Amino acid sequence: MKANIAEKVLADDIEKVLLSSEDIKRRVAELGRQISEDYKDKDVVLVGILRGAFVFLADLIREISIPVETDFIAISSYGSSSTTSGVVRILKDLDEDIEGRDVLIIEDILDTGLTLKYLVKNLSSRRPASLEICSFIVKECKQSVAISLKYLGYTVPNRFVVGYGLDYAQRYRNLPFVGTLKPYVYERDEI
Ligand code: IMP
Repeated sequence: MKANIAEKVLADDIEKVLLSSEDIKRRVAELGRQISEDYKDKDVVLVGILRGAFVFLADLIREISIPVETDFIAISSYGSSSTTSGVVRILKDLDEDIEGRDVLIIEDILDTGLTLKYLVKNLSSRRPASLEICSFIVKECKQSVAISLKYLGYTVPNRFVVGYGLDYAQRYRNLPFVGTLKPYVYERDEI
């Protein structure tokens, strides 16, 4: 029998599953219902931050029952694979003009908050009617800048996590759950 790749990675590299795919599905459905309620009669654009938020956004829009548009912004933050430096560069800008629109930023994870701080400042200058944030995960006790979230999926301990769109060195995004990596994964990459 062919081994499932997620099971193979789970067995090899995952230390602990923090959010199961069942938990995630339930929570994403709740968020979708809430957003549908809050944004009915609004002209909403969901702005996904690439690359990490693409999995969350793909699931979330299918739980939203009102008309929405989606757009993407791709950013790169300088730093190593597991830390953020706060210096952000736009690799791909939005395709659409957001002036006068109700913009909801869809982010995968809020760590120091520096990436979102930059994005909020940048997108605010384009004069949207409203600008709010929905982050799938927030790390406990880590934010170095205050970011106000309208929607939050989960709070997780201050550990580096992978899966459900989140990567380490561009891998593990395809895991259907969120977990921590065994230490040897980082040690292996240092060699
Ligand atoms: P911040 O600017 O420190 O809030 O970091 C936000 C970005 O860093 C996220 O959009 C992720 O791309 C990345 N990041 C932060 N923590 C993690 C993590 O635990 N796993 C994977 N990526 C992370």
